[in-house]
Amino acid sequence: MDSILVTGNGPLNGQIPIAGAKNACLTLMPATLLSEEPLTLTNAPRLSDIRTMTALLQSLGAEVSSLQDGQVLAMSSHDLTSHTADYEIVRKMRASNLVLGPLLARFGEAVVSLPGGCAIGARPMDLHVEGLEALGAEIELKDGYLHAKAPGGLKGAVHEMRFASVGATENIVMAATLAKGTTVLKNAAREPEIVDLVECLRKMGAQIAGEGTSTIEIQGVDRLHGATHQVVTDRIELGTYMLAPAICGGEVELLGGRMSLVDSFVAKLNAAGVNVTETNNGLKVSRKNGRVNAVDVVTEPFPGFPTDLQAQMMALMCTAEGTSVLEERIFENRFMHAPELVRMGASIEVHGGTATVTGVDQLKGAPVMATDLRASVSLILAGLAAEGETTVSRVYHLDRGYEHVVRKLEGVGAKIERIKGQ
Ligand code: EPZ
Repeated sequence: MDSILVTGNGPLNGQIPIAGAKNACLTLMPATLLSEEPLTLTNAPRLSDIRTMTALLQSLGAEVSSLQDGQVLAMSSHDLTSHTADYEIVRKMRASNLVLGPLLARFGEAVVSLPGGCAIGARPMDLHVEGLEALGAEIELKDGYLHAKAPGGLKGAVHEMRFASVGATENIVMAATLAKGTTVLKNAAREPEIVDLVECLRKMGAQIAGEGTSTIEIQGVDRLHGATHQVVTDRIELGTYMLAPAICGGEVELLGGRMSLVDSFVAKLNAAGVNVTETNNGLKVSRKNGRVNAVDVVTEPFPGFPTDLQAQMMALMCTAEGTSVLEERIFENRFMHAPELVRMGASIEVHGGTATVTGVDQLKGAPVMATDLRASVSLILAGLAAEGETTVSRVYHLDRGYEHVVRKLEGVGAKIERIKGQ
């Protein structure tokens, strides 16, 4: 297994290009199952999760061609050979469950493995099932698989979700595009990735309104046609790299960044004493003085502070002046980066869903282990600011969500390299 060696090397300066959003691409790709005509995605990120979703769609019989070094995905699901998403693939990537709604809507049947737990939590699918059953689907759990049927097709309905689940919103909206009649989805998730999905579905002929708000209304249509769609910028990669100059000092411009994607995150950075300004090419980030101020963070569904930036923000708070309290309200076990940061000299106390961080003057490099996607990059951020060398192992977690992380950080002056595993 590869590892990444980071050596604290002072302030960072320069530009970092931000890629297309992993979490938008992972819901846009299954949307190809809704139409027999081709769907082409541009600005796709080059990530292992995208390759996993490609393999899943191909296992169903869809054609997926990765062009222009992976930045263009040309897909077609004219003839499928299977409606089953196998455990072996779903186990690796929960987002595989996003084929459920499209398969049900277009073919009236789907067999999708329950994803099983993952490092950050149990991650059940009850909200997906409740929403699709509201549209008339019959769903039964057998041998760890959800067996879903909609023999007479799906029917529009009014449905309120108990929690604003991102994935459940995506599955229900995609299914509703081909249901008979009108669907009103209440307490829908408002993430930019959902707005991006709806914009793509609309290009395919779907009739949808209200994306980005808590109530999304979908008028079912008989069929959807093909389209070409550019994947929205990745707000989590954006926020992650905004923290690099914040934790190291210097000034970095994030190309393609948009303030509207990271409003609540920027508010916290400003409170911590980090400057963020819009430029013609993106966002420019610099730190006002030596140490940032400690700020408290509560993770919430969009537009609140993103749970996917909690680990990275914790790394910054480890070096802040004062004590910060980070409350993780979305996942039940998303502090596995904390003990690894403590190995680097951080002072963190975790009690249930709350982590209390007392900033220290200087982190010290150490061998640490990545446990999940966002934890892995928080350890790299800490390593950039630490004195000495930090080796982050199990970086396959990193490859799931960050393309060319070594090249991007080297480009702004970081001392970082990838060490090939045995
Ligand atoms: C999406 O996961 C993202 N993944 C996650 O990003 C992100 O952390 C999460 O949304 C929250 O923003 C993709 O988009 C591929 P949820 P998703 O359904 O859809 C519970 C990353 O690092 N829940 O909003 O799975 C669930 O257990 C990943 O890029 C139910 O109880 O998130 C969790 O506690 C990690 N029942 C909470 O809701 C359900 O049926 C949020 O889940 C569904 C979810």
